[in-house]
Amino acid sequence: MKNIRDMLMDSIKEKLEKLENLEEVEKARISILGKKGFLKEQFKKMKDIPPQERAEFGKALNLVKEEVESILSSKIEEFKALQAKSKALERSVDLTIPGAKRAVGRLHLITQILQECVEVFERMGFEVVEGPEIENTYYNFEALNTPEWHPARDLHDTFYIDENKLLRTHTSPVQIRTMESRKPPLRVISPGRVYRKDYDASHLPAFFQIEGLAIDREISIADLKGTLENVIKSVLGEDKKVRFRPHYFPFTEPSVEVDVSFPQGKSGWLELLGAGMVHPNVLRNVGLNPDEWQGFAFGMGIERLAMLKYGVDDIREFPRNSLNFLKLF
Ligand code: PHE
Repeated sequence: MKNIRDMLMDSIKEKLEKLENLEEVEKARISILGKKGFLKEQFKKMKDIPPQERAEFGKALNLVKEEVESILSSKIEEFKALQAKSKALERSVDLTIPGAKRAVGRLHLITQILQECVEVFERMGFEVVEGPEIENTYYNFEALNTPEWHPARDLHDTFYIDENKLLRTHTSPVQIRTMESRKPPLRVISPGRVYRKDYDASHLPAFFQIEGLAIDREISIADLKGTLENVIKSVLGEDKKVRFRPHYFPFTEPSVEVDVSFPQGKSGWLELLGAGMVHPNVLRNVGLNPDEWQGFAFGMGIERLAMLKYGVDDIREFPRNSLNFLKLF
């Protein structure tokens, strides 16, 4: 026959074995060892037990009490260790998770091509000068020999700020500012934004030009042609065809427009720039003697250059700034 201790243990063993967490351990402690618990009930039974068996029963109860206490405290330790482990796991850093990717930006296509042009010009001995985007009508028109009747002066073509101030319609006023402030010989370029009331597949209301000006004692239209051909072919490729067409600008004489053949299977020409020999009146306006000094000047559209280089057929893509488009370059 089993002894009393074993019998008592058997009745609670199952309960102790099923414990799964600290809460359950605490509940079990109360239900076995608590004031109204299993063991207290057993102790109460002592008075009904014959006196000669009482001592043995009491001893057995105390053994059970000790055993339950030791089982419970080892369970507590076990669950506390488990809890600590899972907390540590929660806090730990998983070095195998791929890092957050940071998108690296890039220069806008127009900035890229502008920089490329500036480098080519610098290699040919040109230096960069700048002028304001809000310009006086004198620098934008009069000094450039552009009379009152010229269509570029029409309010419909131009953004006026007041009667005498406007958003410059070209970079040519920088020619005047440079010749006023420096002595020839000069070889300068001036990249920057210009503004006109235009908007279609090949015109923008705000776009970029590079102005060029070379002033010296002996400069001919051959120098102009050579310079422009060199730049266009350096940026667009040696295979490009360049066409010089007679044209009219008030501030150059003779004047030309320069077209470049469309790339990749498209036929036709795209006008890229205006140019010419600096008009004697312009030289006089800045105090230079046209019998002593001559020069050439040009103004090149940068978006147009980008269109030719990358085969973009709508100029409005550039300021739209869609990342899908810009990421292609
Ligand atoms: N300023 C002219 C334009 O914007 C271009 C040009 C510049 C023509 C210099 C001749 C000389 O159309």
